[in-house]
This record gives sequence, C-alpha cells and structure tokens, in this order.
Amino acid sequence: MNWLWRSSSEPLWKEEFSVRTADERYVTRRQLTKFLVLTSLGMFVGNLWILVKSLFYKAPIYPQQSVARVGEIPVGSVKLFTYPTKDDHCILVRTAENEHVSYSQKCTHLSCAVYYSQESNRLECPCHKGFFSIADGSVLQGPPSRPLPRIVLEKRGDEIIAVDIKV
Ligand code: FES
Repeated sequence: MNWLWRSSSEPLWKEEFSVRTADERYVTRRQLTKFLVLTSLGMFVGNLWILVKSLFYKAPIYPQQSVARVGEIPVGSVKLFTYPTKDDHCILVRTAENEHVSYSQKCTHLSCAVYYSQESNRLECPCHKGFFSIADGSVLQGPPSRPLPRIVLEKRGDEIIAVDIKV
C-alpha cells in the first residue's frame, strides 16, 4: 500500500505534472532568435519575389483593331464597340471634325456603363452621378476615384484603329 503515501505535502497532481504554467510562456533566447531569423527570412524572400516580378513585368500587348471609319459618325455622336475582348465595352466619341476620343465604358466606381452627354460634353455614369472629362477621362464629379481607361487611337487612311489602353 505504498502507492497511497506521498513524499511531500504537495497534491499528487502537482508532483506528476512537471511543467509549470509560468514556464510555458517563457521564451528562451534561442527560440526568440529562431523566430526573428525565420520572420526576417520570410520577409526577405517576399521582397525578393516582388523585385523579381517587377523586373520581369511586361506590359500587355493589345491587338490592333479597326473601330470605325473616319466620318462614319457625325460630330458629337458616339459609336460603341468592344476592345480588346468581346467583354470589354468601349465608347468612341467624335468630339470635332478631325478628333475622336475613346474610353472604356465601364465606370471605375462600380462598373456601370457610362454614356456621352452632348449637352454637358462629358461622360456620365447614371448609377451614382459620376462624371468624367471627355478630354482625358479624369473624374469631374462623383464617387469614382480613378479616371476611365483611355483607348489609344490611330488614324490610318480612313480607318480609326484602337492600338492600346492607357490606365
Ligand atoms: S458606378 Fe459609376 S458612379 Fe457609381
């Protein structure tokens, strides 16, 4: 019956449970150093990855696509087209006799389709009254925080060609 007798006055569970709660939270110098080295290594690898990606980043090459013929639309009128894919809707506006501008039709706020208002000579979004400049696509009013992506146009003969997108 020796197993019933204890050697000290401490409860039996304290004698048998060898790790103290206070010691569980104790961090050794070695553990701290290991944590700092691994964290620093992780951050270094992450930054290296960002650097390598930025060095090898290539701007997308957009296709060249005929969007209208010169004189096809009257001054102050628009033509809708898609560029560079069938899902990317754009708007072409003839602002003067020899001047055309084009922008993505997707509002930079919540993606509603913008339209051209001839009276106010600006692109307007009907959803939250976001207005964009026809000259450069910049935000004139409303919740959008970014300008409309501009479709770069080139005139070749009597064709107006979309060649690039400037965000
Ligand atoms: S979606 Fe165009 S202003 Fe909100």
